[in-house]
Amino acid sequence: MNVIRRRGWEMPEHLATPEHMFLNRRALLTAGAAAAAIGLVPDLASAQRVSDIPDPSADLYPAKRNEKYTLDRPITDEKINGNYNNFFEFGSSKNITRAAQALKIRPWTIKLDGMVEKPMEVGIDDLVRKFGVEERLYRLRCVEAWSMAVPWSGFPMAKLVELAKPLSSAKYVRMETFLDKAIAPGQRQTWYPWPYVEGLTIAEATNELAFLVTGAYGKPVAKVHGAPIRLAVPWKYGFKNIKSIVRFSFTDKRPKSYWEDLQSSEYGFWANVNPEVSHPRWSQASEELIGTGERRPTLLFNGYGEYVADLYKGLEAERLWV
Ligand code: MTE
Repeated sequence: MNVIRRRGWEMPEHLATPEHMFLNRRALLTAGAAAAAIGLVPDLASAQRVSDIPDPSADLYPAKRNEKYTLDRPITDEKINGNYNNFFEFGSSKNITRAAQALKIRPWTIKLDGMVEKPMEVGIDDLVRKFGVEERLYRLRCVEAWSMAVPWSGFPMAKLVELAKPLSSAKYVRMETFLDKAIAPGQRQTWYPWPYVEGLTIAEATNELAFLVTGAYGKPVAKVHGAPIRLAVPWKYGFKNIKSIVRFSFTDKRPKSYWEDLQSSEYGFWANVNPEVSHPRWSQASEELIGTGERRPTLLFNGYGEYVADLYKGLEAERLWV
């Protein structure tokens, strides 16, 4: 995670960039059985094979807001949010909105596999129409000590877990981003462990806050934010919020995430927000609200402790905060 073009709210590069990446930078689908399972109509299925349709889910937005999840700050301006991103598949700068337009978001097929009753593949539009969408206002705290507040739309991840029917022996869900070097120049950089991978325990994935995002700012989610489906787990550091997901695998082995693979001394599996536990190279005590110049104290679990603190009881000996 690094910063090339420094603006008011950005951290100095040497603080925000893992050392080895700092050096490196210088060197440098099919809707199948599941269709029937979730009862899609035949013309929707064929629509998913047409690559050029604009966005077949556009009519679902804006979605009705779920008022339960409130913010303690204004929503981040859409333009600011959409031009300050981490999406390493398209480059390691924050300014990758244009490069991300190369992402092809239809057809988009998602695999549900591993320790499940019956593996399946499902097209994004079938999934979204089956579950429906709601809007939630969530904060996002990046490990780089900046934050934003976003009106995401999507559905609770618990619904997807329920559809997948994991075996009782499964403990984790491993998520994977697309892999396509032809459109994602970052994926040609072989020193990164592609594809981007993240993981949650099934208890975390079924917590009411874990949200699969398909929309933002009242429309289908922008490519740069990880269209057509990305994760929002607001009590964890931003890197857990994996973008452009193509696969959910249920497993009894703890998945090794992309960042953990790159730099396990700095990034771990749990990655819960804690202002008292510094990153090895910078403090996590406060955060800059992007686009505002305002700095605020960071809150334990990013302020979501009432929903999630219980998940970590008895795990105090683990690296819960990196
Ligand atoms: N997902 C993928 N596939 N690739 C990435 O580089 N970056 C992560 C996360 N998800 C990343 C990703 C990081 S470090 C952050 S902070 C958030 O996405 C940023 O999300 P945003 O660009 O929508 O703000």
